[in-house]
Amino acid sequence: MCTGNIELPKTDTSLHGTVPVPAASDQSDPFSQYVDSVLELTELHRPIKGDEWHRRLELCLDGEPGRVLRDRVQRKDLRRQGAYFTGFRLAERVAKVATSQTGIPKVCDPACGAGDLLLAIARKLPLQSTLEETLVKWGNFLSGFDISEQFIRLTKARLILLAAKRHGIYPPFDPSLPSDLFSDIKIGDSLTSPPNMSGMDVIIMNPPFGYSPAPVDCDWASGRVNAAVLFVDRAIRDAAEGARVIAILPDVLRSGSRYTAWRESIRALGAVLHEKPLGLFDEWTDIDVYLFHFKKNLSLDRNCFERPVDQATYGIGKRFFVHVGPVVPHRHTETGPCAPYINARLLPSWGELAAIETTRQFTGRLFEPPFVCVKRTSRPDDGRRAIATLISGDKPVAVENHLVVLIPKDGTVQTCRKLMHRLNSPKTDRWLNTRLRCRHLTTRALSEMPWWYKP
Ligand SMILES: C[S@@+](CC[C@H](N)C(=O)[O-])C[C@H]1O[C@@H](n2cnc3c(N)ncnc32)[C@H](O)[C@@H]1O
Repeated sequence: MCTGNIELPKTDTSLHGTVPVPAASDQSDPFSQYVDSVLELTELHRPIKGDEWHRRLELCLDGEPGRVLRDRVQRKDLRRQGAYFTGFRLAERVAKVATSQTGIPKVCDPACGAGDLLLAIARKLPLQSTLEETLVKWGNFLSGFDISEQFIRLTKARLILLAAKRHGIYPPFDPSLPSDLFSDIKIGDSLTSPPNMSGMDVIIMNPPFGYSPAPVDCDWASGRVNAAVLFVDRAIRDAAEGARVIAILPDVLRSGSRYTAWRESIRALGAVLHEKPLGLFDEWTDIDVYLFHFKKNLSLDRNCFERPVDQATYGIGKRFFVHVGPVVPHRHTETGPCAPYINARLLPSWGELAAIETTRQFTGRLFEPPFVCVKRTSRPDDGRRAIATLISGDKPVAVENHLVVLIPKDGTVQTCRKLMHRLNSPKTDRWLNTRLRCRHLTTRALSEMPWWYKP
């Protein structure tokens, strides 16, 4: 279990270090200019044409901050800070789950960005009789943190604009609106000084997906891990008993073998109510995500954490030894005996290869045919997931590390052909797509797969 504060080394800039999106207002910076233009909208004490007001409001409430960031801030800087805002569709899904239980929940987003998740919640909150009463009431239920002051200012401004829109109120605004609205939405580092979550009913998040060192006291991983796991783990551990955590997470947390121990560790703290693969995060971000819904300290069905369409039966694992190819071309120098060599680019998909023309020297393990090779990288929803080739021939083969090698335990080419037939089945694609949304097939997922009796 990871306890205490998570110390990220000063040299790591994937989350900390440089804050590329200007931390405070800087008139010369194009993103600051945008933030100021949104703040001005909330402070209009002069009339504005109805068309113009509606146009600005619609843009600002629907994804404009994310678009402006993409246009005006360098991609590498956005990645470093993990500043990818949730689109309307995904935010609505989170809000629907967050507000699915009776009563108005107290909600916190510990990495709130420009507030897209909080806005989705606010769309479902009731209005009071005046704009001011609504804003004060919403402020009692909504809290959020972000390391960027600009984002915090945007979040507050957008909530005010949303309330104005829902009330049907046009500028000029009443100048007597309180200045300290949404005081629980503030600048903060949710990893090093985690906010107090004790009063929260629901923690929502779409955390940064960059890589970061695992904390020293972490007992489920060492080395670099996806930062999303640090945020969600922190939230689960800090959540009050009975509170829920609803997060958009990279699919690798659901399906990657690197996070198996983490998944086990959180099962001791509550129940995973739901995990729903959602496909790509958005059209600009090539990462598969899922919706994670967790309830702290609730002994429900603890087995629903990984739920493939069919259970893991090790149908393949019982019949085949499953390994990753050991040759890493840029790392291994060409020394040792010369052997036939296969890599992912050379292999004919779904074919049988008896004569291998390419050779290389390799001192590591060679594989005796017959065996089946499967390409490790395949895209979910992009046709076949386990693209296979049968390797026959009579010489041991050096295999590149982008391939998984499946060696029949009975040593026969017939068993390899039966496997090829099964890998080519839509049942395999369905099973693997549910089991793994990240592109890399794992030896574990292949071993666990059922042996289809009617492929
Ligand atoms: C992927 S964005 C999501 C923003 C927002 N929740 C949404 O769904 O649109 C992640 C946000 O986390 C913020 N962030 C990064 N590191 C943080 C930290 N240590 N504490 C708080 N916020 C952080 C970034 O500035 C960014 O706004």
